[in-house]
Amino acid sequence: MKSSGKKVCFMTGASGVLGSEIALSVAGQGYTVFFTYHSSEEKAAETLEKIRWISPESQMVRCDVSKVSDIGSAFAAFRKQFNRLDLLIASASNFYSTPLPEVTEKEWDDLVDTNLKGTFFTLQEAVKIMQKQSFISRIITMTDISANLIWRNFAPYTVAKSGIQHLTKIFAKTFAPGILVNSIAPGTVTINPAKEMDSEEQMIKKIPLQRLGDPLDIIKTITFLLESDYITGQIIAVDGGRLLQ
Ligand SMILES: NC(=O)c1ccc[n+]([C@@H]2O[C@H](COP(=O)([O-])OP(=O)(O)OC[C@H]3O[C@@H](n4cnc5c(N)ncnc54)[C@H](OP(=O)(O)O)[C@@H]3O)[C@@H](O)[C@H]2O)c1
Repeated sequence: MKSSGKKVCFMTGASGVLGSEIALSVAGQGYTVFFTYHSSEEKAAETLEKIRWISPESQMVRCDVSKVSDIGSAFAAFRKQFNRLDLLIASASNFYSTPLPEVTEKEWDDLVDTNLKGTFFTLQEAVKIMQKQSFISRIITMTDISANLIWRNFAPYTVAKSGIQHLTKIFAKTFAPGILVNSIAPGTVTINPAKEMDSEEQMIKKIPLQRLGDPLDIIKTITFLLESDYITGQIIAVDGGRLLQ
């Protein structure tokens, strides 16, 4: 078991486009990172290699967050390796359009179980460790400004992200003062043209600050939350003002 005084972060979804940048940045801020991936083993291995240059004890494990038993196994592996948990970043997510009249039970379960159920049970496991610690620990959930918008073709996803925002507040209130729980709701940072309804130009027109987000915008917000001791239960939109429209 690693019992050095170094801070430890458990992160889900670190094989993601934005998630991998976040994991790397957290390692750069002095954390050992234990992260999960699901299907992108190669991308996860690449991310781990980069992280280990900065934080050699970092580890990765495969986990399907839609399965509570997988989350339990990932935390069991974590506990064998580490005896503290300073930070949880719950970033695992899936996202695709599901035109409302055609949403199937399988799509609903896939999107809601991965995003909402997965986040709930990940947080539940993390607080079991954090509650017993005598220092302040932090949880950051990753949601989406679409939780506040009416996107007709993304109902299961946006409902799930909206649910995560609510459970962020429930966890914040339940586990104060020892655990600070906040959510970051990005606007559009990365674009997958196959999944988007609007072109890049159309998206930018809706953003008062006239550009898409950059991973650094999210990383700066995480850094701010890691340095804050008096913020909990907040949903921070990092969206260039998109929600003002
Ligand atoms: N990027 C953006 O523009 C944007 C905008 C708004 C909100 N967000 C939110 O910000 C967070 C990070 O975004 P991102 O760009 O990194 O997303 P991404 O590229 O889509 O990556 C999603 C991550 O979740 C993992 N994942 C998917 N299904 C899973 C499952 N069943 N079990 C466990 N892990 C699973 C993926 O693992 P594998 O690849 O290994 O399968 C990957 O690591 C997400 O919560 C996303 O919703 C992002």
